[in-house]
Amino acid sequence: MKLNVIGGPLSSVEADALVVGLYAEEPKLRDPVARLDRALGGQLAEVLSAERFQGKPGQLSYLHTAGRLPARRLIVVGLGKRADLTLETLRRAASAGVRRARDLGARVAAIETLGDRLPVRDRAHAVAEGAILGAYTFDRYKREKADKRVDELRVVEADGRRRAETTEGVRTGEVFAESTCFARDLVNSPANDVHPTYLAKAAVQLAKEAKLGIKVLERDECEKLGMGAFLGVAAGSEQPPKFIHLWYTPAGKRRRRVAVIGKGITFDSGGLDLKPAEGMLRMKDDMSGAAAVLGIMRALPFLKPPFEVHGLIAATENMPSGSAVRPGDVLRAMNGTTIEVGNTDAEGRLTLADAICYAAEKVQADEVIDMATLTGACVVALGPLCSGLFSNDEALAARLTVAAERAGERLWRLPLIDEYRENLKSDVADMNNVGPRGGGAITAGLFLKEFAGERPWAHFDIAGPAFVEKDVPLGPKGATGAAVRTILAYLTAER
Ligand code: BES
Ligand code: MN
Ligand code: ZN
Repeated sequence: MKLNVIGGPLSSVEADALVVGLYAEEPKLRDPVARLDRALGGQLAEVLSAERFQGKPGQLSYLHTAGRLPARRLIVVGLGKRADLTLETLRRAASAGVRRARDLGARVAAIETLGDRLPVRDRAHAVAEGAILGAYTFDRYKREKADKRVDELRVVEADGRRRAETTEGVRTGEVFAESTCFARDLVNSPANDVHPTYLAKAAVQLAKEAKLGIKVLERDECEKLGMGAFLGVAAGSEQPPKFIHLWYTPAGKRRRRVAVIGKGITFDSGGLDLKPAEGMLRMKDDMSGAAAVLGIMRALPFLKPPFEVHGLIAATENMPSGSAVRPGDVLRAMNGTTIEVGNTDAEGRLTLADAICYAAEKVQADEVIDMATLTGACVVALGPLCSGLFSNDEALAARLTVAAERAGERLWRLPLIDEYRENLKSDVADMNNVGPRGGGAITAGLFLKEFAGERPWAHFDIAGPAFVEKDVPLGPKGATGAAVRTILAYLTAER
């Protein structure tokens, strides 16, 4: 979908479908929609009243304009009460409106910069983002491609003085959304195609296009660095592991050096502690953190944050085989910590341990953020729509919470309860990789915390929201690209 910013008024907009917003509890149409209604001889007001349109968030109505407007269809979306308007309402409204336009067969759609209470730049961002995310489909593996597709979206800004800000907002929203969809595509693609080598190639390609620095470490190089935890997980797979390191350097004076790490298990069978069939079915999504890192890195040259940002992915499969790591084996992480493998299915933390060590030793990051589909326990705790946040740094946790709120992604902080640390004790090694069932997301967080040491670190457990079984307001079921927009909002919050 191509996005263009055009001038108004709405009554002159040419499109197959024009999307406009209406607030709840405002029965009398106001301009600019009232003007459209007049051009339609009052037919819009009639349709809205016949359908008892109340302007509730997400409510939709439409009519064919039969030549009385240059837009062939008019789609009305509810925005809720004027006083309650949020950017998330706008994203969802744009998503619903553009999806309806598509389903009605529109190739060229138009949408006003909905809602008039928030800054125009933010509104334009939200509308562009919502439209692209909402219209996302994944048909790469289908013979029959979706035939209904919006090719162009015209974002209408009638006020000429706001055109520049609108364009800026639309372009930023576009980058946020396209990067999210980039991550979605990687996660939705099956694990027989998206193996570590594929991820590494995608990273190299991306680095070339976005002019990022890149290094891909092969197994022997990881061995030299002492990444025994990562390589232990990789031991059972026929697919060679890849450690991917991308970096973005800002033009001006850089502030902090931030490392973003993504769990990159391209398929999690559980290893010798094999998962049952139902549990394994979705496990191509176990590289959602890695996909998020690639999505984030891709966006940086456009967004130009003032930080040096390093993207790190320890990519491997977790498979059972004669060469696989065994329950009870002891692995040695890059920082020398020995880990007893209590369960081969707790593999994510092993790969992340070495990635965090690398971020500390090699990158010397001032701040480390990891994103991982880490525990089923986090899904039990927060359900499919909310990520867990863990951090050893109050300020970092607070900044990330604000960023998530701004981005419209749900994130809830969970505690790193010191007393539970003893659950990770091992009789033979420095640590065990698993604890008891209760508080499983916390135990996993505590495990990672050991490797972060004193460095400000945050961990997103995205096991729930990375992949959803039902359609959501901003996209179809399947991969969501969770955490991409939150981290982008975080990195662009300080100008
Ligand atoms: N990738 C899984 C976590 C997961 C589960 C993600 C469900 C998405 C949906 C992870 O590697 C795993 O298997 N975790 C185990 C840990 C346990 C063995 C301590 C889990 O959560 O059961
Ligand atoms: Mn696992
Ligand atoms: Zn896993």
